[in-house]
Amino acid sequence: MDQYLRNLLKEDSEFLQKLRAYGEAEFVPIVRLDMAALLRFLVKSHKPARILEAGTAIGYSSILMAQADESNSSHIDTIEIDPDTAMTARRNIAEAGLSSRIRVIVGDALEVFESLNGTYDMIFVDSAKSQYILMYDCIKKLLRQGGLLVCDNVIYYGKIFDSPEEAPHKHRTIIANLRAFLEKVMSDKDYAATLLETGDGVLLATLNNKP
Ligand SMILES: C[S@@+](CC[C@H](N)C(=O)[O-])C[C@H]1O[C@@H](n2cnc3c(N)ncnc32)[C@H](O)[C@@H]1O
Repeated sequence: MDQYLRNLLKEDSEFLQKLRAYGEAEFVPIVRLDMAALLRFLVKSHKPARILEAGTAIGYSSILMAQADESNSSHIDTIEIDPDTAMTARRNIAEAGLSSRIRVIVGDALEVFESLNGTYDMIFVDSAKSQYILMYDCIKKLLRQGGLLVCDNVIYYGKIFDSPEEAPHKHRTIIANLRAFLEKVMSDKDYAATLLETGDGVLLATLNNKP
């Protein structure tokens, strides 16, 4: 799929191609190409003015979302736990000319989520998978009514289909927490949600009723 999309998708900017090549060479995990295409589609169709991202890495997805906004006016707050990685992201964002629109916050996404005020039109969660369930209440608080929630890696390389008890010990907590998160969102009547096999599995949800 990635190889096919690589040939098919022409609109990736040269700068993003450069970041993807760097990510691949340095083993920095960034959204897969099909997920990148989905993010671009969501930004162009939903036109979120304020986006919150957990998991900046080197800034690929935040730059992609900023560049996808044709009005050039959206703002992104993105959170990265590793200070060196955050510094690389800031450098890349500056090189892309997007420092005024993308704010990189260094910290644990869970703690930062708890400290943020106001609401966002879109929240993209792409950080520690075992934390998604712990972020549940914060996400609901920070997403505006009608806002879009996008969570990557929810299939966890297919491991989510194994029962936690049968999985190797090191994966158990992640599987159990991801399953709990998915069950909670999918059964929450405030959301309209679905799962796609895009990327490493993506949860898409809109918050139709904000409590
Ligand atoms: C999959 S990468 C993000 C990729 C990025 N969204 C992209 O596609 O360009 C996950 C990132 O989340 C960061 N991370 C892990 N745990 C975190 C946490 N608790 N809070 C914030 N960032 C975290 C990692 O350091 C890593 O850089």
